[in-house]
Amino acid sequence: ASYDMGGHDTFMHKEISEQPDAVDRVLRGRIDDRFSTVHLGGLNLDPREARTIRRIKILGCGTSYHAGLIGAGLIESMARIPADAEPASEFRYRNPVVDPDTLYIAVSQSGETYDVLAAVQELKRKGARVLGVVNVVGSAIAREADGGVYVHAGPEVCVVSTKCFTNTVTAFALLALHLGRIRDLSVTDGKRIIEGLRKLPAQIQEILETEDEIKKIAEEYAGAQSMMFIGRVRGYPVALEASLKLKEISYIHAEAYPASELKHGPLALIEPALPTVAIVPDDDLLEKNRAALEEIKARSGRILAVAHQEQAKADHTIVVPKNEDELDPILMGIPLQLLAYHTALAMGRDIDKPRNLAKSVTVE
Ligand code: AGP
Repeated sequence: ASYDMGGHDTFMHKEISEQPDAVDRVLRGRIDDRFSTVHLGGLNLDPREARTIRRIKILGCGTSYHAGLIGAGLIESMARIPADAEPASEFRYRNPVVDPDTLYIAVSQSGETYDVLAAVQELKRKGARVLGVVNVVGSAIAREADGGVYVHAGPEVCVVSTKCFTNTVTAFALLALHLGRIRDLSVTDGKRIIEGLRKLPAQIQEILETEDEIKKIAEEYAGAQSMMFIGRVRGYPVALEASLKLKEISYIHAEAYPASELKHGPLALIEPALPTVAIVPDDDLLEKNRAALEEIKARSGRILAVAHQEQAKADHTIVVPKNEDELDPILMGIPLQLLAYHTALAMGRDIDKPRNLAKSVTVE
């Protein structure tokens, strides 16, 4: 594509910077304040039918799979429908039970990823109802799905996905709110989430303005051989996505673990040469997350925390603005995009075109 970089040195930087506007776009025209709900024009899901859904299965690859993991959490917490996400290709090859009471959701930026498209086709052959959460309008997956939500991130050129991830998660928050409000989410909770959604663009802007500080931190970690990313429940998919971003563009080896799994193995790796990035939101799991930081500090591990307040055990804390607990993952991913970006830049990597990768994987 011959899109303009608009004064940025890379498409990745341009796309990270576009996120306040992109999130504004995914919300625009969809919020209904009168009933504290949202309207999703293309969903094609009758409320009566939506009330009979027993389970939701979300399918995607790479970053879209990670967005789906956060989406599943949003749906479970707001709509109280059991939901989970799985890599599309794994799903397709294990001959899954296709259940008529399950709603399947395919997630894709390009709408052309072969593994996702093939999973959708297989599901449809077996009579399932499939929705799409897709960025590219009119793409193969969008056409194949029975309906869905467009993510409206705008064109994403950089091979690594940033703004589309943020918009996809925001689109899932809208879908979760919609499903919640026709099942058992209260008006008050609906209003609370809507207010939180409306705060996102300005809060993202606030995070982007701390770029210089994040750049300095990135330069300190740029020499690392390997990095560990940890988070708990809502924070775990944020850790997964941040570690993927770092490996894709910096080629630093990175692992993501639920913080609760540390003591079951990966704690053995902790030493001064293996820095940990910890997602530490101010929610009901704060104390649990702080205990993990203590465990790491006791083994002389370096810690970078992404949190809502300075963390005493961390060597660095990137403080992000607080939103509603459910929406915090959207904001906590943003500084870690910049961390990956500046780490890769400090290492002289070709950020927009990482080795061995293509923007959309249209072959098996
Ligand atoms: C993202 O940074 C990746 N390059 C990759 O994981 C990507 O998210 C994946 O290939 C899925 O692509 P899609 O969203 O276009 O389906």
